[in-house]
Amino acid sequence: MATSMLLRAGPGPVMQMPVSRAQGNEMHTTLQSPSIGGARSIAAGRSGHAMCSRERALLKIRAQSGTQDVTKEASSDTSKLEAGKKNNNVVFVAGATGKVGSRTVRELLKSGVQVRAGVRDVSRGQAVLKATDKSESLEFVKCDLENDAIESCLGDAGVVVCTIGASEKEISDVTGPYRIDYKATENLIKAATSAKVNHFILVSSLGTTKFGWPASILNLFWGVLIWKAKAEKALEESGLSYTIVRPGGMERPTDAYKETHNLILAPKDTYSGGQVSSLQIAELIAACVSNLDLAGNKVLEAIAETTAPLRPLKDLLAEAPSRK
Ligand SMILES: NC(=O)c1ccc[n+]([C@@H]2O[C@H](COP(=O)([O-])OP(=O)(O)OC[C@H]3O[C@@H](n4cnc5c(N)ncnc54)[C@H](OP(=O)(O)O)[C@@H]3O)[C@@H](O)[C@H]2O)c1
Repeated sequence: MATSMLLRAGPGPVMQMPVSRAQGNEMHTTLQSPSIGGARSIAAGRSGHAMCSRERALLKIRAQSGTQDVTKEASSDTSKLEAGKKNNNVVFVAGATGKVGSRTVRELLKSGVQVRAGVRDVSRGQAVLKATDKSESLEFVKCDLENDAIESCLGDAGVVVCTIGASEKEISDVTGPYRIDYKATENLIKAATSAKVNHFILVSSLGTTKFGWPASILNLFWGVLIWKAKAEKALEESGLSYTIVRPGGMERPTDAYKETHNLILAPKDTYSGGQVSSLQIAELIAACVSNLDLAGNKVLEAIAETTAPLRPLKDLLAEAPSRK
């Protein structure tokens, strides 16, 4: 069927383009998005200075619960790190201040896991993710993926989610997609591999390994899809269990989009375009975390359509083909 799409995978403008739908597994989500925030913050080591366990043990976590401030030692995290144990109930989210990242943090908290929200600026993270009764499960971690020592930021997280992308506010920076969508993402993949996390979820984009329209147009914006494809390859070759989520255009759809458009999943290189909301992608990521056995080594192209049937996420994850 043909319709139209809006797609922005990087710092370029939103573009309208035709959509062809080949095949796919229909899915839909019904979760709501609550307000959250407050939470704790933890400072990461700087570049070239990966914190040793002793330093981590001395590191203080400042916890805020409502109006009460609580300070505690991070020794429990340290012991788990030393034992090489990773906890799938702890999820590190890179890009937690972003549109997809902030919604992903909310959905993960709703599902009951603990979140280490990776942010470049903790106060900005706290402002984006406002007060919540789940604040005891949320910890802000200062983590610039270009400059900080990433492995120590991961703590005992068993799952890492990467939602970063070059900023549209820095569209004049020709190096943006190379630095962020590829190198910074690759830095996170390497750190996750070294830390032996159990699963890595990467938010990429439709069109990364498709030639022609619309990839060729999007790539005019500093080759953003080329760099995203290289990040996908780095993840696939890392040896980690992975899920690559490739959303359609997310600029126009609001959080209410899912009330009229049901989510569809399809295998790699199915779609040339389509739209989906940031919230629907966040719900998909949370479903992957809750069903890691169904998410391993899968590339999930995700759009939403009015004609798609409403189906449980878990069923559609189960139907999505694994690449191993
Ligand atoms: N928007 C679309 O239509 C669309 C379509 C398909 C795919 N995508 C992709 O989906 C992903 C999420 O998109 P979005 O709309 O949520 O993006 P967004 O709102 O622009 O968020 C990007 C996030 O990346 C973070 N970031 C950038 N550089 C960083 C670094 N060096 N270290 C750590 N964090 C860094 C930003 O942090 P700061 O707050 O500190 O800047 C921000 O939290 C991106 O990869 C995007 O390319 C988007």
